[in-house]
Amino acid sequence: MDLQDVIRSNNTCRYYRPDPVPDEVLERVISAARFAPNGGNRQPVRFVVVRDAATKEALRDLYLPYWNAYIKAASGGEIRVGILPKAARDADTFANHLHEVPVLLMVCARLEDVHPTDHELGRLSVVGGASIYPAVQNLLLSCREEGLGSALTTLLCHEEPKIKELLAIPEDISVVATLAIGYPEKPFPTRLSRRPVSEIAFLERYGDPLPTRGDGS
Ligand SMILES: Cc1cc2nc3c(=O)[nH]c(=O)nc-3n(C[C@H](O)[C@H](O)[C@H](O)COP(=O)(O)O)c2cc1C
Repeated sequence: MDLQDVIRSNNTCRYYRPDPVPDEVLERVISAARFAPNGGNRQPVRFVVVRDAATKEALRDLYLPYWNAYIKAASGGEIRVGILPKAARDADTFANHLHEVPVLLMVCARLEDVHPTDHELGRLSVVGGASIYPAVQNLLLSCREEGLGSALTTLLCHEEPKIKELLAIPEDISVVATLAIGYPEKPFPTRLSRRPVSEIAFLERYGDPLPTRGDGS
């Protein structure tokens, strides 16, 4: 596949076929993650592949209270999924069927091996993630190339201690995302809904839009 097509059509997949993901395909997408840039090449990212039905159910049970709280807030204090936009309704179906996704891939990181350079600024530190999430994006794009749907989620990070216990994750390793992976039930979109380049890129000074000619909309 053309890289631009991969990038532009890699949506968050909410509906999965039950077909298993072959081991060699999973190995290829995990392998691609290794080649992402990371500070000092210290390679902090680790993965735990979860296929076991009971473990996936346990993960769904940990996920749902956070998802339901989110939906409750989004729908005005009660769970009223029907009044929400389609994307939220699809995400709600996804949440309730999380255990049916063929693979839940727990993304972990050894935080001793990340190098935050913004932790003394008195605001949320995010630079450490720059050694982690490029690997995740490599993996997600590789899924798309393989015809696999995927979804990056972070709600389960709230429950890091319980997840570490469930998956025997060592003390010095943190939980940084959960990826749903499987063959999609629906076709991939041709284009995702994103802001135009002129809204997000500036020329020389922040606020002066970068003139765009091509496919920047
Ligand atoms: C940092 C991050 C955290 C996310 N966490 C969740 C999550 O916990 N649950 C969920 O259903 N989707 C989650 N998503 C998926 C987003 O909702 C999705 O990427 C966004 O709506 C865009 O969807 P699209 O790529 O299909 O256009 C997360 C995405 C990111 C980047």
